[in-house]
Amino acid sequence: MSESLLLTPGQPKAARYAELHPQLVALTASESDRTANLANTAAALRQAFGFFWVGFYVVQGEELVLGPFQGPIACTRIRRGRGVCGTSWAEARTVLVPDVEAFPGHIACSSDSKSEIVVPIIKNGAVVAVLDVDSDKLNDFDHDDQQALEQLVQLAATWF
Ligand code: SME
Repeated sequence: MSESLLLTPGQPKAARYAELHPQLVALTASESDRTANLANTAAALRQAFGFFWVGFYVVQGEELVLGPFQGPIACTRIRRGRGVCGTSWAEARTVLVPDVEAFPGHIACSSDSKSEIVVPIIKNGAVVAVLDVDSDKLNDFDHDDQQALEQLVQLAATWF
C-alpha cells in the first residue's frame, strides 16, 4: 500500500467515504499496532473531508482518555455519561449533534466546534473507544456520515 490516499476531487460525501474505506482497509491490514492504525485513520478522515477535529477516545476504567487525533488540542479525559462522547459510550450508540450548543452537557474543547458526531467502537458487546468528529459548521453531519463512520469503526474494532 502506498502511503498516499487517492481521493477524487468534487465527489459527493458518500462516494468519498466509499473511495476511502478500501484504502483504509489496505493501509491498516499489514500493521498490528493499534495506535498506528487509529492515527492513520484520523489523518485519513481529516485529509479526505477537512473535518475541524477527528480523533479517538479510548476507554480506560471509568473514563475515556484522548487517543490519536488530528486537529487542535483537546480535553484529555471524559467521564462515562458526560458530554457527547461519554453519552455515546454510556448508551453504546452513535450520537449526532447538529448544534453542540443545544446538547445538554456538551464538553466544549473548542468554541469553534459547532456540530459533532460520535460513534462507539464496540468489541465483544462492550464499548472500547469512541470516534469523535467535529465540524466548525452547524448541522454538518447526516445519515451518510453515520452510516460510513459506523462501517469504519467495525474495522477499528478489530484493532482492540
Ligand atoms: N465535544 C466532546 C468532547 C471532545 S472534543 O469535541 C474533541 C464531548 O462533548 O464529548
